[in-house]
Amino acid sequence: MDLSEKSIWHSSYSVENSTIDDEHMQILQVYKELINLVENNNNDRQAFASILSKLTDFSLYHFKNEEKYMLNMDYPKFKEHKELHREYIYQVAMYNTELLSVNPPKLIDIINFVKDWLDNHILKEDIKYEQFKNERKISVKYTQTI
Ligand SMILES: [Fe+2]
Repeated sequence: MDLSEKSIWHSSYSVENSTIDDEHMQILQVYKELINLVENNNNDRQAFASILSKLTDFSLYHFKNEEKYMLNMDYPKFKEHKELHREYIYQVAMYNTELLSVNPPKLIDIINFVKDWLDNHILKEDIKYEQFKNERKISVKYTQTI
């Protein structure tokens, strides 16, 4: 797949909640920085690792907001969802460490992992808590941690 094709926000990503969508867009924006770096044939692993850290930092912030939101609506699959977040953070942290080792992973493999995870997670998992909330007509607001 063409890298530029991988960077596009698509309306199907929408979970019908503008604040969450906005955070997802910001995540994709940082992800796009990874692509830009590689597309410019820049094999600077240090720079890549630093963007990847930024992605992790923002993801942690976003996951915290999302987890609070799921808890507030008594989302039945909260634990499973939180576990997916944990696994993702763990994997990205591993990549970050490996990037600066003697036997680093290929940058494209990391990009593919992040993109596949985001696609799967946003399209299949995040959508579920919003559907649950709407079906049950639960009035809980998504709030952002300062
Ligand atoms: Fe999530």
